[in-house]
Amino acid sequence: ADSLRHKAEARGLVYGCAVKSRNLRDDAQFRAAVANEAGILVPEYELKRQFIQPEPNRYDFAAVDFILQSAARDDQKARGHTLAWYDANPAWLPNALNDSTTAAAKAKLLTEYIAFVTKRYAGRMHSWDVVNEAVEPDNGRSDGMRSQSIWYEALGEDYIPLAFHAAKQADPHALLFLNDFGVEAPIRWNDRRRKALLNLLDRLKSKDVPVEAFGIQGHLHPYRDGFDAKVFARFIHDLEGYGIKLMITELDVSDRGGPDDPQKRDADVAAVTKDFLNVALESHQTLGVLTWGLTDRYTWLSTSDKYKWPDGQLPRALPLDGILARKPMWDAISNAF
Ligand code: XIL
Repeated sequence: ADSLRHKAEARGLVYGCAVKSRNLRDDAQFRAAVANEAGILVPEYELKRQFIQPEPNRYDFAAVDFILQSAARDDQKARGHTLAWYDANPAWLPNALNDSTTAAAKAKLLTEYIAFVTKRYAGRMHSWDVVNEAVEPDNGRSDGMRSQSIWYEALGEDYIPLAFHAAKQADPHALLFLNDFGVEAPIRWNDRRRKALLNLLDRLKSKDVPVEAFGIQGHLHPYRDGFDAKVFARFIHDLEGYGIKLMITELDVSDRGGPDDPQKRDADVAAVTKDFLNVALESHQTLGVLTWGLTDRYTWLSTSDKYKWPDGQLPRALPLDGILARKPMWDAISNAF
């Protein structure tokens, strides 16, 4: 059939997208498009700890379960996002970490959560973003680690091995990802991020931490940052050296800052998508591509102050437009597979 899912599968790859449970439930047109185009789903926010464990003794899995049921009905895979992140944590958690007097007690607040959640979904998750956004050179450390994180503050870098081992033990079959952004652009900030990530992978690999894959988020801002296939290809090549799998986990291509004519922006977005995916998919270690959403009707870019258009117009960063028609970006992804 004619869909991104089938184009990807024909090449032994997977294509899918992030979804919000509410949109799947309330928007039948959206649900049909997701069923048609996606071979793998990831909950866009429902599997972040803030939503899963709003209080120490209360877990809420309903929204994630809803997405997984929908995926099962449409014979789609699913992936989990995310287990250890500096962001989207419940308010009680930093307090609990502060109240813990030993490193062992702090570690338990991480590993027991990971064990509980990954065990609950064991057998149903293709993969997990175990650690999300571990580096941030702008935090001031010479190793580029993101030090402004509840986990780093509590445990230092040890939180990363702890998280991966806990996930591996609870769900030995899911592929375990380190996931991060800001690794594709030819700008100094991305150079520092690439270097910090490669150095981190060196340290994790030397300690036999089960990092099995690297997730390249792929939130591109071509009018702000540019794109250079050679720079990105070098990073992919460096990642290949670790013998891990690769995946584009959150692709969208912001058209913010582009020309007034939306057709021109659509063409630019498609051209960058093509260049970016050609590099990513050239590696035999790359498993596939997920976009962060499917249609411009629902994109996080329009809700984020940092990324939305100042004049309120809809971003055009995803394969389908606001009325679910295929855009040049759809063709670019399809042709890349
Ligand atoms: C975003 C979601 O899309 C939003 O709905 C939410 O409000 C904030 O988070 N990188 C990530 C994702 O790893 O978790 C982020 O998702 C987008 C950037």
